[in-house]
Parts: sequence; C-alpha cells; structure tokens
Amino acid sequence: MTSKPAYRVAPGADVSDAASIGDGSSIWHLAQVREGATLGESCVIGRGAYIGTDVRMGHGCKIQNYALVYEPARLADGVFVGPAAVFTNDHFPRAVNPDLTPKSASDWDPVGVTCEQGSSIGARAVCVAPVTIGAWAMVAAGATVVKDVPPHALVAGVPAKRLAWVGRSGEKLLPASDGTDAWVCPTTGEWYIPDETSGGLQLATSPVTDAPRPAELEDPDDKDGATE
Ligand SMILES: CC(C)(COP(=O)(O)OP(=O)(O)OC[C@H]1O[C@@H](n2cnc3c(N)ncnc32)[C@H](O)[C@@H]1OP(=O)(O)O)[C@@H](O)C(=O)NCCC(=O)NCCS
Repeated sequence: MTSKPAYRVAPGADVSDAASIGDGSSIWHLAQVREGATLGESCVIGRGAYIGTDVRMGHGCKIQNYALVYEPARLADGVFVGPAAVFTNDHFPRAVNPDLTPKSASDWDPVGVTCEQGSSIGARAVCVAPVTIGAWAMVAAGATVVKDVPPHALVAGVPAKRLAWVGRSGEKLLPASDGTDAWVCPTTGEWYIPDETSGGLQLATSPVTDAPRPAELEDPDDKDGATE
C-alpha cells in the first residue's frame, strides 16, 4: 500500500514525480512544479503558478496565482511572491543563434533570482536575474528590480528604487527619536540598525527581550567597552 502524500495537489495541477514537496504544502489548480524543484513544508503554490526545474524554496513560502518562478531561483523560508510576478533567468534572451538555428539549453547561461528570508515581491513585479532580494525586503506592485535590494528595503518603480525601510511585520519603519540612525517599527516596537555589510538594516533588539536600546549597544570595535 502506498502512503498518501502529506501535501495537497488540486485537480489539474502538474507536479513532477521528480519534485520534492514538503509536508503541509498545497499546490492549486493548473500550477506546474517541474522536475527537481524542492519545496519546503507548508508552502502554497497558487493557481497557474510555475515553479521551474531545480528551483529551491524553503518552508512557508507563498507563491500567488500565475507567478512565474524560473530556474535557477532560490527562495529562503517565508518568501512571498505576488500574483503574476516574474523571475527571469536569461539576461540577454534570444530564441535563435545568429544563423537562425534554435538555441539549445547549452547556448545560454541561466541566471537566477535569490530571495532571502521573509522577503516579499508585489503583484506583477519583475525581478531581472541575476539579482538578490534581501531579507524582509519588500518589492512594490509593478516594480522592475534590476539591482540587488538590501535587507528591509521597500523598493518601487521602474527601475525599482528604495522608498522606505520596512520591518519584519511589513510596516514602514520610522526614524528613532533618540537621534541615532536606528529605525523603529510602529507596530511591533522592534528596533533596526544599519548593517554595513549588506547596505540594509538588521534587527537590533525587540521589546520582548527587554534588551538595551540600539544607542546603548556596545560598539563591537570597542573591545574594552570603554566609553568617553
Ligand atoms: C509599495 C507599497 C507597499 C506602498 O504602500 P504605501 O506606503 O501605503 O504607499 P503610499 O500610497 O503612501 O505611497 C507612497 C509613495 O509611493 C508611491 N507608490 C506606492 N506604491 C507604488 C508602486 N507600487 N509603484 C510605484 N510607486 C508606488 C506613491 O505614488 C507615493 O508616491 P508620492 O510620495 O510621490 O506620492 C504598496 O503600494 C504596494 O505596492 N504594495 C504591494 C501590494 C501587492 O502587490 N500585494 C500582493 C498581494 S495581492
């Protein structure tokens, strides 16, 4: 007796036997999941969405209706891809070679879109590979992303430019009132500070941990912790 898969595939969805689908995931009508694709647990693939060959997706990702996630895209945990969003994979596309012979798989080098943890892509946005959407960043509806988006940035437009910073809740962050370069989420009270490595923000502390405010954090370069 074969055991029932621990995920749901709606009638009309086309899921390759060579794809790996995590427990608790749902794949809705007319979606296609290609061979070698790997989905984590509790992912949702909306109606008519396309998940390309060998695409990797973490847990809890949500791919909305008619989104096109072409390989070799990589999505970390908790990534949201809005309806009709497109992840490209060929930077200078051509159907044919100069002699008009059809291009084969070996005639072009696929490039991918990488979405870090918790990032969101708005409806009908286009992410032009190769590009990385940083952790918890948000891409506005209809944007065209041609450059890496730093963590927690909210970007919009064509080409996409940063409008604001957003926290993990998705709310726009407000500048901290203590004169530092920290940012605060009005919903959760979380504090964020600049991250020089990524050019974005990183979570500094959370009120639930009762940790010190960012302005009072120890300077990591000040080994003795001495203050003037
Ligand atoms: C980007 C977004 C989060 C901004 O929300 P907001 O902060 O409430 O936006 P506001 O209406 O205050 O607009 C702020 C500015 O950004 C502009 N703007 C807002 N959304 C924009 C978009 N999608 N593209 C380009 N510019 C946009 C506004 O015109 C405004 O510009 P202005 O200051 O020059 O007038 C929102 O518009 C958006 O696109 N959300 C994604 C929705 C989506 O795709 N959901 C998917 C599931 S259906």
